[in-house]
Amino acid sequence: MRFIETWIPATLVATRDLAPGIREFLILPDQFDGTAYPVGSHINVSVTIDGLPETRSYSLVGEASPRGFRIAVRRAEDSRGGSRYMWQLAPGARLDITRPASLLAVDWARENYCLIAGGIGITPILGAAQALARRGADVTLHYAVRSRTDAAYLDDLAKMLGERLVVHASDEGRRLDLDALFGSLPQGALALFCGPMRMLDAARHAWIGAGHPLPDLRYETFGSSGTLPTETFRVRLKGTDVELEIPRERSMLDVLNASGHDVMYDCKRGECGLCAIDVVEVDGEIDHRDVFFSDHQKQSNQKICACVSRARGTITVDTLLRADAV
Ligand code: FES
Repeated sequence: MRFIETWIPATLVATRDLAPGIREFLILPDQFDGTAYPVGSHINVSVTIDGLPETRSYSLVGEASPRGFRIAVRRAEDSRGGSRYMWQLAPGARLDITRPASLLAVDWARENYCLIAGGIGITPILGAAQALARRGADVTLHYAVRSRTDAAYLDDLAKMLGERLVVHASDEGRRLDLDALFGSLPQGALALFCGPMRMLDAARHAWIGAGHPLPDLRYETFGSSGTLPTETFRVRLKGTDVELEIPRERSMLDVLNASGHDVMYDCKRGECGLCAIDVVEVDGEIDHRDVFFSDHQKQSNQKICACVSRARGTITVDTLLRADAV
Protein backbone atom coordinates (compact mmCIF):
# COMPACT_ATOMS: atom_id res chain seq x y z
CA MET A 1 0.00 0.00 0.00
CA ARG A 2 1.58 3.28 -1.04
CA PHE A 3 0.65 6.92 -0.75
CA ILE A 4 0.61 9.39 -3.65
CA GLU A 5 2.84 8.13 -6.39
CA THR A 6 2.32 9.32 -9.94
CA TRP A 7 4.25 7.50 -12.60
CA ILE A 8 5.12 9.15 -15.89
CA PRO A 9 6.48 7.56 -19.06
CA ALA A 10 9.98 8.55 -20.14
CA THR A 11 12.80 7.59 -22.49
CA LEU A 12 16.42 6.90 -21.70
CA VAL A 13 18.09 9.39 -24.03
CA ALA A 14 21.78 8.79 -23.40
CA THR A 15 24.26 7.08 -21.12
CA ARG A 16 27.79 8.11 -20.22
CA ASP A 17 30.42 6.26 -18.20
CA LEU A 18 31.78 8.61 -15.54
CA ALA A 19 34.23 6.32 -13.75
CA PRO A 20 34.81 2.58 -13.53
CA GLY A 21 31.47 1.15 -12.41
CA ILE A 22 29.59 4.47 -12.47
CA ARG A 23 27.28 5.32 -15.36
CA GLU A 24 25.18 8.41 -15.91
CA PHE A 25 21.69 8.11 -17.42
CA LEU A 26 19.87 11.01 -19.08
CA ILE A 27 16.12 10.40 -18.88
CA LEU A 28 13.56 12.53 -20.70
CA PRO A 29 9.91 12.32 -19.61
CA ASP A 30 7.37 12.36 -22.47
CA GLN A 31 5.86 15.53 -21.03
CA PHE A 32 8.75 17.64 -19.82
CA ASP A 33 8.91 21.33 -19.08
CA GLY A 34 12.32 21.50 -17.34
CA THR A 35 10.77 22.98 -14.20
CA ALA A 36 13.29 23.50 -11.39
CA TYR A 37 13.25 20.93 -8.61
CA PRO A 38 14.52 21.28 -5.03
CA VAL A 39 18.11 20.41 -4.12
CA GLY A 40 18.43 16.79 -3.05
CA SER A 41 15.56 15.63 -5.25
CA HIS A 42 15.27 12.04 -6.35
CA ILE A 43 13.10 10.13 -8.77
CA ASN A 44 11.85 6.58 -8.52
CA VAL A 45 12.44 4.33 -11.49
CA SER A 46 10.41 1.22 -12.19
CA VAL A 47 12.81 -1.67 -12.75
CA THR A 48 12.32 -5.36 -13.41
CA ILE A 49 14.20 -7.85 -11.28
CA ASP A 50 13.84 -11.56 -11.91
CA GLY A 51 10.72 -10.79 -13.92
CA LEU A 52 9.06 -8.86 -11.10
CA PRO A 53 8.42 -5.11 -11.01
CA GLU A 54 10.40 -3.22 -8.36
CA THR A 55 11.15 0.41 -7.62
CA ARG A 56 14.52 2.00 -7.19
CA SER A 57 15.17 5.53 -6.06
CA TYR A 58 17.97 7.64 -7.55
CA SER A 59 19.13 11.15 -6.71
CA LEU A 60 19.01 13.68 -9.50
CA VAL A 61 22.41 14.99 -10.47
CA GLY A 62 22.79 18.75 -10.58
CA GLU A 63 20.19 21.43 -11.00
CA ALA A 64 17.27 21.21 -13.45
CA SER A 65 18.17 21.06 -17.12
CA PRO A 66 16.00 21.31 -20.26
CA ARG A 67 17.68 18.11 -21.51
CA GLY A 68 15.97 15.91 -18.91
CA PHE A 69 16.78 14.25 -15.61
CA ARG A 70 20.30 13.00 -14.90
CA ILE A 71 20.94 10.13 -12.51
CA ALA A 72 24.17 8.20 -11.92
CA VAL A 73 24.16 4.55 -10.96
CA ARG A 74 27.04 2.62 -9.45
CA ARG A 75 27.12 -0.97 -10.57
CA ALA A 76 27.17 -2.65 -7.18
CA GLU A 77 28.36 -6.23 -6.81
CA ASP A 78 26.31 -6.28 -3.62
CA SER A 79 23.33 -5.06 -5.64
CA ARG A 80 19.79 -6.23 -5.04
CA GLY A 81 19.35 -6.10 -8.82
CA GLY A 82 18.49 -2.43 -9.48
CA SER A 83 21.89 -1.41 -10.75
CA ARG A 84 22.14 -4.56 -12.90
CA TYR A 85 18.83 -3.68 -14.50
CA MET A 86 19.82 -0.08 -15.13
CA TRP A 87 23.18 -1.01 -16.59
CA GLN A 88 21.68 -3.30 -19.24
CA LEU A 89 19.51 -0.46 -20.60
CA ALA A 90 20.46 1.16 -23.90
CA PRO A 91 19.47 4.60 -25.17
CA GLY A 92 15.92 4.51 -26.50
CA ALA A 93 14.67 2.28 -23.66
CA ARG A 94 11.30 3.21 -22.26
CA LEU A 95 10.99 3.72 -18.50
CA ASP A 96 8.40 4.67 -15.95
CA ILE A 97 9.57 7.23 -13.42
CA THR A 98 8.07 9.45 -10.73
CA ARG A 99 8.33 13.20 -10.58
CA PRO A 100 11.21 14.68 -8.54
CA ALA A 101 10.72 14.91 -4.80
CA SER A 102 13.12 15.99 -2.07
CA LEU A 103 13.34 15.15 1.60
CA LEU A 104 16.50 17.20 2.05
CA ALA A 105 15.58 20.57 3.47
CA VAL A 106 18.23 23.20 2.82
CA ASP A 107 18.07 26.61 4.36
CA TRP A 108 19.90 29.13 2.26
CA ALA A 109 20.48 31.79 4.90
CA ARG A 110 23.50 30.23 6.65
CA GLU A 111 26.92 31.85 6.59
CA ASN A 112 28.81 28.62 6.18
CA TYR A 113 28.04 25.36 4.38
CA CYS A 114 29.93 22.11 4.54
CA LEU A 115 29.11 19.46 1.94
CA ILE A 116 30.29 15.89 2.43
CA ALA A 117 29.99 13.15 -0.16
CA GLY A 118 31.14 9.55 0.10
CA GLY A 119 31.60 7.85 -3.28
CA ILE A 120 28.38 7.78 -5.32
CA GLY A 121 26.86 9.99 -2.59
CA ILE A 122 28.14 12.85 -4.73
CA THR A 123 24.95 12.69 -6.82
CA PRO A 124 22.62 14.79 -4.61
CA ILE A 125 25.52 16.87 -3.31
CA LEU A 126 26.51 18.13 -6.77
CA GLY A 127 23.26 20.05 -7.17
CA ALA A 128 23.68 21.58 -3.71
CA ALA A 129 27.23 22.65 -4.61
CA GLN A 130 25.97 24.23 -7.84
CA ALA A 131 23.17 26.10 -6.06
CA LEU A 132 25.42 27.35 -3.25
CA ALA A 133 28.27 28.34 -5.60
CA ARG A 134 25.78 30.26 -7.75
CA ARG A 135 24.57 32.14 -4.67
CA GLY A 136 28.16 33.03 -3.74
CA ALA A 137 27.82 31.15 -0.43
CA ASP A 138 30.77 30.16 1.75
CA VAL A 139 30.80 26.47 0.84
CA THR A 140 33.38 23.69 0.91
CA LEU A 141 32.84 20.22 -0.47
CA HIS A 142 34.67 17.24 1.05
CA TYR A 143 34.60 14.32 -1.36
CA ALA A 144 35.73 10.97 0.06
CA VAL A 145 36.67 8.35 -2.53
CA ARG A 146 38.90 5.32 -2.80
CA SER A 147 40.89 6.95 -5.57
CA ARG A 148 40.50 9.93 -7.88
CA THR A 149 39.85 7.58 -10.79
CA ASP A 150 36.74 6.36 -8.93
CA ALA A 151 35.45 9.90 -8.41
CA ALA A 152 32.51 10.85 -10.64
CA TYR A 153 32.14 14.50 -11.70
CA LEU A 154 35.56 15.45 -10.36
CA ASP A 155 36.40 17.82 -13.24
CA ASP A 156 32.99 19.53 -13.08
CA LEU A 157 33.36 20.04 -9.34
CA ALA A 158 36.91 21.33 -9.61
CA LYS A 159 35.78 23.89 -12.19
CA MET A 160 32.82 24.91 -10.04
CA LEU A 161 34.52 25.07 -6.65
CA GLY A 162 38.28 25.42 -7.21
CA GLU A 163 40.06 25.17 -3.87
CA ARG A 164 36.75 24.76 -2.08
CA LEU A 165 36.73 21.18 -3.33
CA VAL A 166 38.76 18.91 -1.03
CA VAL A 167 39.25 15.35 -2.29
CA HIS A 168 39.98 12.71 0.36
CA ALA A 169 41.35 9.81 -1.67
CA SER A 170 42.25 6.85 0.52
CA ASP A 171 44.86 5.57 -1.97
CA GLU A 172 46.67 8.88 -1.42
CA GLY A 173 46.52 8.43 2.34
CA ARG A 174 44.06 11.33 2.66
CA ARG A 175 41.21 9.90 4.68
CA LEU A 176 38.42 12.19 5.75
CA ASP A 177 38.69 13.00 9.45
CA LEU A 178 35.11 13.96 10.33
CA ASP A 179 35.94 14.83 13.95
CA ALA A 180 38.58 17.31 12.85
CA LEU A 181 36.43 18.68 10.04
CA PHE A 182 33.33 19.29 12.14
CA GLY A 183 35.45 20.58 15.04
CA SER A 184 36.81 23.27 12.71
CA LEU A 185 33.40 24.53 11.55
CA PRO A 186 31.87 27.66 13.07
CA GLN A 187 28.65 27.29 15.06
CA GLY A 188 25.67 27.87 12.79
CA ALA A 189 27.25 26.00 9.87
CA LEU A 190 24.97 23.69 7.91
CA ALA A 191 26.30 20.34 6.75
CA LEU A 192 24.78 18.34 3.90
CA PHE A 193 25.88 14.74 3.74
CA CYS A 194 25.38 11.80 1.42
CA GLY A 195 27.32 8.58 1.76
CA PRO A 196 27.13 5.00 2.93
CA MET A 197 25.49 4.09 6.23
CA ARG A 198 28.72 3.52 8.18
CA MET A 199 29.99 6.93 7.13
CA LEU A 200 26.66 8.54 8.06
CA ASP A 201 26.82 6.98 11.52
CA ALA A 202 30.35 8.34 11.93
CA ALA A 203 29.22 11.76 10.69
CA ARG A 204 26.34 11.92 13.16
CA HIS A 205 28.60 11.04 16.07
CA ALA A 206 31.29 13.49 14.98
CA TRP A 207 28.71 16.24 14.44
CA ILE A 208 27.27 15.84 17.93
CA GLY A 209 30.76 15.44 19.40
CA ALA A 210 31.76 18.79 17.90
CA GLY A 211 28.82 20.44 19.67
CA HIS A 212 26.68 21.18 16.60
CA PRO A 213 22.89 20.73 16.75
CA LEU A 214 21.92 17.46 15.04
CA PRO A 215 19.23 19.14 12.88
CA ASP A 216 22.04 21.13 11.23
CA LEU A 217 23.40 17.90 9.75
CA ARG A 218 21.12 17.11 6.83
CA TYR A 219 21.55 13.90 4.94
CA GLU A 220 20.51 11.77 2.05
CA THR A 221 21.04 8.05 2.04
CA PHE A 222 21.45 5.29 -0.46
CA GLY A 223 18.82 3.29 1.38
CA SER A 224 20.72 0.15 0.48
CA SER A 225 24.04 0.16 2.25
CA GLY A 226 24.32 -1.60 5.57
CA THR A 227 26.87 -3.08 7.91
CA LEU A 228 26.27 -6.71 6.92
CA PRO A 229 26.54 -8.14 3.41
CA THR A 230 23.26 -8.30 1.50
CA GLU A 231 22.23 -11.93 1.89
CA THR A 232 19.08 -14.03 1.93
CA PHE A 233 17.36 -14.13 5.32
CA ARG A 234 14.09 -15.49 6.70
CA VAL A 235 11.08 -13.80 8.28
CA ARG A 236 8.53 -15.58 10.45
CA LEU A 237 5.16 -13.99 11.06
CA LYS A 238 4.09 -13.98 14.67
CA GLY A 239 1.19 -16.24 15.50
CA THR A 240 1.20 -18.01 12.11
CA ASP A 241 3.03 -20.85 10.43
CA VAL A 242 4.21 -18.49 7.72
CA GLU A 243 7.93 -18.21 7.14
CA LEU A 244 9.13 -16.20 4.18
CA GLU A 245 12.50 -16.12 2.47
CA ILE A 246 13.81 -12.67 1.61
CA PRO A 247 16.23 -13.13 -1.28
CA ARG A 248 19.16 -10.75 -1.61
CA GLU A 249 17.62 -8.91 -4.56
CA ARG A 250 14.26 -8.16 -2.88
CA SER A 251 13.27 -6.17 0.18
CA MET A 252 11.37 -7.54 3.13
CA LEU A 253 8.65 -4.98 2.37
CA ASP A 254 8.18 -6.23 -1.18
CA VAL A 255 8.11 -9.88 -0.13
CA LEU A 256 5.61 -9.19 2.65
CA ASN A 257 3.33 -7.20 0.37
CA ALA A 258 3.61 -9.70 -2.47
CA SER A 259 2.49 -12.43 -0.09
CA GLY A 260 -0.58 -10.47 0.99
CA HIS A 261 0.63 -8.84 4.21
CA ASP A 262 -0.45 -5.29 3.73
CA VAL A 263 2.47 -3.23 5.01
CA MET A 264 2.20 0.51 4.42
CA TYR A 265 5.11 2.40 2.92
CA ASP A 266 6.03 5.65 1.29
CA CYS A 267 9.66 6.57 0.69
CA LYS A 268 11.17 3.06 0.35
CA ARG A 269 14.45 4.74 1.35
CA GLY A 270 14.48 4.16 5.10
CA GLU A 271 13.54 7.78 5.79
CA CYS A 272 9.84 8.11 6.60
CA GLY A 273 9.38 5.16 8.99
CA LEU A 274 5.96 4.28 7.59
CA CYS A 275 6.94 0.70 6.82
CA ALA A 276 8.25 0.01 10.33
CA ILE A 277 6.98 -3.24 11.83
CA ASP A 278 7.40 -4.85 15.22
CA VAL A 279 10.21 -7.32 15.77
CA VAL A 280 9.29 -10.12 18.16
CA GLU A 281 12.40 -12.28 18.04
CA VAL A 282 15.81 -12.22 16.41
CA ASP A 283 17.65 -15.44 15.71
CA GLY A 284 20.70 -13.90 14.07
CA GLU A 285 21.33 -10.21 13.62
CA ILE A 286 19.41 -7.23 12.24
CA ASP A 287 21.15 -4.83 9.86
CA HIS A 288 19.25 -1.56 10.32
CA ARG A 289 19.73 0.42 7.12
CA ASP A 290 17.24 3.20 7.78
CA VAL A 291 17.84 6.73 9.01
CA PHE A 292 14.44 6.93 10.69
CA PHE A 293 15.23 5.24 13.99
CA SER A 294 17.72 6.56 16.52
CA ASP A 295 20.81 4.57 17.48
CA HIS A 296 19.06 3.63 20.69
CA GLN A 297 15.97 2.37 18.89
CA LYS A 298 18.12 0.36 16.50
CA GLN A 299 20.00 -1.24 19.36
CA SER A 300 16.75 -2.23 21.02
CA ASN A 301 15.71 -4.15 17.86
CA GLN A 302 12.05 -3.64 18.64
CA LYS A 303 11.15 -2.39 15.17
CA ILE A 304 12.54 -2.70 11.68
CA CYS A 305 12.04 -0.58 8.57
CA ALA A 306 10.98 -3.29 6.15
CA CYS A 307 11.83 -1.30 3.01
CA VAL A 308 15.60 -1.18 3.47
CA SER A 309 16.70 -3.05 6.58
CA ARG A 310 17.80 -6.63 6.38
CA ALA A 311 19.01 -9.39 8.67
CA ARG A 312 21.21 -12.40 9.00
CA GLY A 313 19.41 -15.55 10.10
CA THR A 314 15.71 -15.49 10.96
CA ILE A 315 13.60 -12.77 12.53
CA THR A 316 10.03 -12.99 13.76
CA VAL A 317 7.85 -9.94 13.13
CA ASP A 318 4.35 -8.72 13.79
CA THR A 319 3.04 -6.70 10.86
CA LEU A 320 0.00 -5.39 12.67
CA LEU A 321 1.75 -2.51 14.44
CA ARG A 322 3.13 0.47 12.59
CA ALA A 323 5.69 3.24 13.03
CA ASP A 324 3.09 5.70 14.31
CA ALA A 325 3.04 3.66 17.48
CA VAL A 326 6.77 4.34 18.07
S1 FES B 1 8.85 3.32 3.36
FE1 FES B 1 9.77 5.01 4.30
S2 FES B 1 11.11 4.11 5.76
FE2 FES B 1 10.29 2.42 4.69
